[in-house]
Amino acid sequence: MFDYSNIISELRKDGYYRERMPVNSPQDRYVVIKNKKVLNFTSNDYLGLANSNYLKDVFYKKVKKYGVGSGSSPLISGYSSQHKELEQELTQLTKLDSTVVMNSGYLANVGLINALSDKDVVILQDKMNHNSIIEGTRLTKSQLIRFHHKNYSDLSEKIEKVKCGLKIIYVDAVFSMTGEFSDLKKLSSIARENNALLFVDDAHGFGVLKNNSKNFPSSLSMYNRDDINIDAYIGTFGKAVGIFGSFISGNKDIVELVIQKSKPYIYSTALPASLAGTVLESLRYIKNNTSLNKKLNRNIKIFREIAKKENIKLQESETPIQTIIVGEPIRLKKIQESALKAGIFIQAIRYPTVPKNNDLIRISLTSNHSTKDIERLLYFLKTI
Ligand SMILES: Cc1ncc(COP(=O)(O)O)c(C=O)c1O
Repeated sequence: MFDYSNIISELRKDGYYRERMPVNSPQDRYVVIKNKKVLNFTSNDYLGLANSNYLKDVFYKKVKKYGVGSGSSPLISGYSSQHKELEQELTQLTKLDSTVVMNSGYLANVGLINALSDKDVVILQDKMNHNSIIEGTRLTKSQLIRFHHKNYSDLSEKIEKVKCGLKIIYVDAVFSMTGEFSDLKKLSSIARENNALLFVDDAHGFGVLKNNSKNFPSSLSMYNRDDINIDAYIGTFGKAVGIFGSFISGNKDIVELVIQKSKPYIYSTALPASLAGTVLESLRYIKNNTSLNKKLNRNIKIFREIAKKENIKLQESETPIQTIIVGEPIRLKKIQESALKAGIFIQAIRYPTVPKNNDLIRISLTSNHSTKDIERLLYFLKTI
């Protein structure tokens, strides 16, 4: 038999071994790891809703009414009135034509690509796109072309050379490991000029990013809608929404094709109705409680201001995802261990999640953090 243990020892030797750390508490500002209460700066629960008393009560009532399981895939009997209501609300929020609820963000990307792909489809992607988009394409017969990170002249050069078939430009709206934005206005015009579709994964913008308008917070709300032209938009419920699951909104025929043809949608048990119903209430809660987003943005500002004063070198980011490049995986892991000893949980992001030598500390800020929490984190970061 092939000796897999060599692969695992190599990972350990090079500092790329990944350890799962069981959390023995709800996801919140503090979590309990190895019997120790630590200040949590790793969660994508940007609005602090994963342990919200309000949503826990909603969930309890929904479970009482709809049970805990969905029983089957959506096309059999797993699709409920709760899914339908959630899809209708999402269509209104995104101002796109139609929506389908999916099981996770990973499956939404894999499932969307699966439904549309065949051999004359070419998918052009930013090199820093989330793994689900890259891997989702590799699993199909479609051609994958990657352009340099946020380098739109590279994209233009590459797309102009594609002579046949359907062209799809697919990007993260907010890059999950750097917190940077894609320029959706620029990408919309490149798509238009080249007769291509534009797909946008907004896992880290949905529920998070806000301009001064009354729109639901998302990457879409940062633009004048006449300036952007999105054919498919993916959002997740496991991050700012605080729960689990995802959706694809977009052009009516694309969404219909996912329902008719996407294998991950057709052949997998549906999200439980109780969860879908709780997601719906979470969206309404986010819309009605604008203070959550204000607090989050205030925390991002405070974090960056103090870091600047203390000469802590952060990468550019206006989102809750803040990073410090360390570069060496073994050193990075040691920093994470000493942070835990100091009662702070930060994440060591290493290759292959980021390119080699770009291993980084990823800090997730949430609206639950206090100024004191942020000062405590920065005090630690100053010592590394
Ligand atoms: C950009 C992006 N898309 C998709 C996903 C996957 O979403 P989910 O965790 O709901 O599977 C993630 C997860 O981190 C992500 O960062």
